[in-house]
Amino acid sequence: METLKFKNGDKMPAIGLGTWKSEKGKVEEAVKIALNNGYRHIDCAATYGNEAEIGRAFNEIFSGGKIKREDVWVTSKLWNDSHRKEHVIPALKQTLKDLQLDYLDLYLIHWPVAFKHRVSFPSKDEDYLSLEEVPIIETWNAMIEAKKQGLVKHIGVSNFSSKKLNDLMSKTTEIPEMNQVELHPFLPQPELLQFCQENNIHCTAFSPLGSSDRSEKMKAENEPSLLKEPAIIEVAKKHNVSPAQVLIKWAVARGTAVIPKSTTKDHIISNLGSIKVNLEEEDLKKIAGIGRDFRYVTGEFFVTPGNPYNNIYDL
Ligand SMILES: NC(=O)c1ccc[n+]([C@@H]2O[C@H](COP(=O)([O-])OP(=O)(O)OC[C@H]3O[C@@H](n4cnc5c(N)ncnc54)[C@H](OP(=O)(O)O)[C@@H]3O)[C@@H](O)[C@H]2O)c1
Repeated sequence: METLKFKNGDKMPAIGLGTWKSEKGKVEEAVKIALNNGYRHIDCAATYGNEAEIGRAFNEIFSGGKIKREDVWVTSKLWNDSHRKEHVIPALKQTLKDLQLDYLDLYLIHWPVAFKHRVSFPSKDEDYLSLEEVPIIETWNAMIEAKKQGLVKHIGVSNFSSKKLNDLMSKTTEIPEMNQVELHPFLPQPELLQFCQENNIHCTAFSPLGSSDRSEKMKAENEPSLLKEPAIIEVAKKHNVSPAQVLIKWAVARGTAVIPKSTTKDHIISNLGSIKVNLEEEDLKKIAGIGRDFRYVTGEFFVTPGNPYNNIYDL
């Protein structure tokens, strides 16, 4: 399995299991299937509301003894209502308690957006805190403290533009080790990827298959399907693999980690199997030629009239 290497020698397996929208009642089994079939990387977040179930899977697997805690890379993310310095470590400790772990391999600031404490989702302008009220550097310094305390091995961010990364890097000597962002053939973001590579920031590709299980209200009308894109299907047929396997291997071939979500056993297993797909230069060219610019996770759910976070990706 390809890995992403960190400065201290730690290695993150390039393919992990995503868990957003993985329902309670299904996610525990999905994580067990994944670990028992070779996954060694699970992507979690407090806001997904399922960390306690995932924790039950970890507990069962790790106490079984065949797979050790240190063999698995676990990522989680700080939710937007806990950006104030006094809220970061308590939020992290809740995640550790739910996941039944002593430490995380990677903890990310989920979005460069802050809500008032205990607002899970904003419904009005007053639910937000502006970045003047809670600057990202305040949150970041608390993330550094969490690392110093040994609660997490690596720290990073998610949904950060290069402008946001630059701004944070100008205020700290501890550079984020990861930027988890939406990346797939409809949104390849080459400039952001290059910026991250030049600054030794790894990238993880989220929504690599087009996130089709998002709620209808998060979807654009007639949104395009990555899995039905003719160029992807053509490459898949050529190699006798599935479109999902092409999309996952495409992400790995670009040097990113990738975290397809699934609670369906066959998908979980075949998604990891994509590592064996050998994409050739002409396949990559064909995929690059798709030339569409489409973002599935727009961040529009953060927009209430007059809130400080319009145009989240340009801030
Ligand atoms: N940092 C962030 O802000 C952020 C945002 C979005 C996502 N993420 C992370 O990235 C992960 C992946 O993104 P995502 O959940 O948005 O969407 P995704 O992985 O692009 O797509 C998930 C959908 O694809 C289906 N699927 C999975 N494998 C398949 C296969 N082999 N063939 C056909 N369909 C397949 C799943 O159904 P089944 O479950 O039935 O297989 C599900 O409906 C998330 O779960 C989360 O961990 C992070």
